[in-house]
Amino acid sequence: MKIICYTLTISTMLSLGLSHDWSFCELSKQMENQCASYCYHVVKPLLHMSEVCRQKDAQVSELQSQMEELRIKMAILETSLAEKEKQCELRIEHSKEIFAIEMRRKPKAQENTEEIVKDVPFPLSCVDIDRSSGIHMIMLPDIETFPVKCDSGIAGLGWTVIQSRLDGSINFYRSWNEYRDGFGDLKSEFFMGLEKLHRITSSERHELFIFMRDWNSQLRSARYDDFKVGGEQTGYELISIGNHTGFSDDMLRGNLHMKFSTFDRDNDKCGDSNCAVDLHGGWWYNCCSDSNLNGGYQETLKSRRIFWNYSSDELITVHMLIRPKRVNLS
Ligand SMILES: *[C@@H]1O[C@H](CO)[C@@H](O)[C@H](O)[C@H]1NC(C)=O
Ligand SMILES: *[C@@H]1O[C@H](CO)[C@@H](O)[C@H](O)[C@H]1NC(C)=O
Repeated sequence: MKIICYTLTISTMLSLGLSHDWSFCELSKQMENQCASYCYHVVKPLLHMSEVCRQKDAQVSELQSQMEELRIKMAILETSLAEKEKQCELRIEHSKEIFAIEMRRKPKAQENTEEIVKDVPFPLSCVDIDRSSGIHMIMLPDIETFPVKCDSGIAGLGWTVIQSRLDGSINFYRSWNEYRDGFGDLKSEFFMGLEKLHRITSSERHELFIFMRDWNSQLRSARYDDFKVGGEQTGYELISIGNHTGFSDDMLRGNLHMKFSTFDRDNDKCGDSNCAVDLHGGWWYNCCSDSNLNGGYQETLKSRRIFWNYSSDELITVHMLIRPKRVNLS
């Protein structure tokens, strides 16, 4: 732009033969008067043109800095897109795996439909219900039928939701008997109950998936491939969790082999103090815990909040899901 303007200015001056007359103007008052009209008619437009050039230069450099800003924004978006793609790939891979398992199971189920209906009036797990989402009745050996919330949207098909935190509508600071039997509303927040958890996870090997979202909308997940809870005589001990994977650190390892504790049943390893009271929840407290998913919703006291890593942001959404880990399903 600059070059074009200068070239234009110089070539205009040359073509009018003015370069000599212009310097002469400076020396002689008389000549100056004579050339005043030249100066006015010829030089002024040139000065104006150079002012226009300066403005254009400023606009160009403004546009260049805006472009630079856009390039940076694009780079950021590209990075987050790549991350999203990676997560999608993982999820697609996982769905394919589950789909393959479902397809292998289907023909068998259809052949024996009548028999199954006769023998098992209710499915044993969400994974036995086609396109399972929403609330369904399931049945376990030695236990009455009961409603469960199934989910196929968070981590693939056929998961049973065992705990949900969404809005703080349900109080999770509950007694031993309430944690044993379960509480809350399947349509919003709830805890399934330790006895059912024990019966389900001891009927066959299960995996655990934990979905979490914090105040900054950061998503985290944790997956354990062998989740098992003992019976009431063991204090509903966290017998096993298996191996950890997912987009988070392993914050349940320290709770392995711990009994469950509530404010009225202190089974933790902390001597005099009661972790269930201090952390305001029910959990497999050691002394006390890296994770506190049954803590108080939006508690002012940080130690009483819902957290997965005490040092990270408070969680506002949690879903704990389980599913049979049928590795040899063909
Ligand atoms: C956990 O991983 C280790 C090594 O990757 C493996 O040997 C072990 O069997 C796994 N445990 C379970 C419960 O799958
Ligand atoms: C917990 O989170 C903090 C902060 O994000 C991090 O520095 C720390 O390594 C995490 N703890 C563990 C055990 O992963």
